[in-house]
Amino acid sequence: MPGLDAIDPNTTDRGTALLERAAREVEQWMQQWKGWSSLPPALAQAGQYGVLGGGKRLRPALVLGAAEACGGNRAESMPAAAAMELVHCFSLVHDDLPALDDDQLRRGRPTLHVHAGEAMAILAGDLLLTQAFQILACGSWPSDVAVDLIRMLSDDTVEMVAGQVYDTLGGLPENLSPIEQLRLTQRCKTGALIRCAVSMGARVANAPPEQTNALHRYGDAIGLMFQVVDDLLDVTQSAEHIGKAVGKDAAMGRLTWPGLLGQDGSIAQIELLHAQAVEALKPLGPNGAHLKDLAGTLAVRTR
Ligand code: IPE
Ligand code: IPE
Ligand code: MG
Ligand code: MG
Ligand code: MG
Repeated sequence: MPGLDAIDPNTTDRGTALLERAAREVEQWMQQWKGWSSLPPALAQAGQYGVLGGGKRLRPALVLGAAEACGGNRAESMPAAAAMELVHCFSLVHDDLPALDDDQLRRGRPTLHVHAGEAMAILAGDLLLTQAFQILACGSWPSDVAVDLIRMLSDDTVEMVAGQVYDTLGGLPENLSPIEQLRLTQRCKTGALIRCAVSMGARVANAPPEQTNALHRYGDAIGLMFQVVDDLLDVTQSAEHIGKAVGKDAAMGRLTWPGLLGQDGSIAQIELLHAQAVEALKPLGPNGAHLKDLAGTLAVRTR
């Protein structure tokens, strides 16, 4: 199996460009979105603080990238990409709260509860989650597509919340080994939304089952891979570089890949999951090339 060293830098540059383009486009869409205008100004400001001005925008890039891989239209997919990012941002705002990870730094800035107070951070999280479904319900797609998107995003958000409970409060099935418990936690807390982003892109593009299934397997592999990398960055990078606190997972007694397998074992997991992601894309042929590039970028990312 080729390791991470075999990933061509040209590939990862293309993957980075794909993320940057999605970031620009979704940022603009969310800035111009009319949903902010009817809100009390302090709530609108807190919501916008939570979503604008930072972040890799991976999930929107996956919605757009998966839709394009299946012949979908980029502009028509944009509301689904934005809805996805709003749910992700809500999850970060609440993840950082004192009752959960108690973090002060996010995307290189003070976390929302530090910036606007804990009550507003909780309420802004409530807002972003709900607005995501408003966006999906008001999209211009046929009603069967809208219903499917709402079902997909709600199911996977529920799964994400379950993963956050496993991660912060425990309650994992005791018959699972530590590695299986870790996998379950991370497939839920991080994998669910990433897989959902890919699947929503396929649905917006009306992808046939073979493509949908291939993308689902791709999303599953990169979703878990993303969190293995996140755990590794927590022990190998500085807060200045990644824009959030580091060394947190061990301090909070979290189950992580470096904790269970060490850094080399974590890298081996990333290699394995990257190879699975690339394999999953095969049925898409050349139409999946940009998603393959993105998988490489995510495998070697340092922030
Ligand atoms: C952080 O997600 C939370 C995890 C699920 C690991 P990202 O690393 O995608 O955060 P942003 O959106 O780039 O800030
Ligand atoms: C957060 O996981 C996952 C969600 C927000 C659903 P982490 O707690 O590991 O994310 P970071 O490291 O704070 O970004
Ligand atoms: Mg957390
Ligand atoms: Mg956290
Ligand atoms: Mg983390």
